[in-house]
Amino acid sequence: MLRRMLAPRTIEIIQSTVPVLKVHGEAITTRFYQRLFESHPELRDVFNQARQREGKQQAALANAVYAAAQNIERLEAILPAVRNIAHKHRALGVVPEHYPIVGQHLLAAIKEVLGDAATGEILGAWAEAYQEIASVFISVERELYEKAHAQPGGWKGFRRFVVRNKRTEDPHATMFDLHPEDGQPIAPFTPGQYLTLKLTPPGDPRTHLRHAPLMPVEGNVYRLQVKQLEERTRADEALTFLRQHVQEGDVLLVASPAGVSSKQ
Ligand code: HEM
Repeated sequence: MLRRMLAPRTIEIIQSTVPVLKVHGEAITTRFYQRLFESHPELRDVFNQARQREGKQQAALANAVYAAAQNIERLEAILPAVRNIAHKHRALGVVPEHYPIVGQHLLAAIKEVLGDAATGEILGAWAEAYQEIASVFISVERELYEKAHAQPGGWKGFRRFVVRNKRTEDPHATMFDLHPEDGQPIAPFTPGQYLTLKLTPPGDPRTHLRHAPLMPVEGNVYRLQVKQLEERTRADEALTFLRQHVQEGDVLLVASPAGVSSKQ
């Protein structure tokens, strides 16, 4: 992976400001998402809004940027983590054009929260570091997109699958078999991988992307397990729709299998 070298002064600034950003982590993350969704409302369909409401997962993206920044001198060290995230990004349809948008709003949120402490030099260093980190993600994701499409039975984006054999095996888990509507071969998968579904509950103006683990099964079919959310977690309307209202014969939109295999 060919990368531009950052100046020693830039690296020094990044490493000394990561702890400051972490202290203000929540404020920065909150402003980041507000700004992102205000200027790009269409991204609400990409991010899990049930999780946004919970506030739980919100920090993951910014924290990963800080963790990468801490390792800015040797980004190779974070490649295993990048691969994991990149699989998810690929399944969700994150593309290179999204990176400058996220970078712009993350930087703006940092500037807003830190106020005068965010000097031009600091912001400049972060802009450079973000670009470096983004380019690592983009190149890993490019490979994953190519592979997902080029492999036998692979496809781009979302493909139509017909639901068959829906059943509830225990009160907390619903199983579905998904058959490709076009009857053509489907990409293989390995244990530990998941499928990403694009769901549109009736009457809901938004689409929702949700992941579900793949279960072993024979034939040209995928078997999915959809678990009820643990008690105390707030309702996820998209998963409730999937478990309660999607019926045999319905068509679901599905991204090709993603996730680092647990065998690797
Ligand atoms: C260098 C920049 C980025 C980093 C470090 C990063 C990091 C992360 C991390 C750590 C997660 C959580 C993964 C997991 O749950 O296993 C995540 C999820 C996600 N990322 Fe990124 N990301 C970056 C850029 C982007 C961009 C440009 C987009 C597109 C707009 C994006 C969209 C998402 C979405 C939609 C999720 C799933 C979150 C959810 O709704 O649950 N990310 N990212």
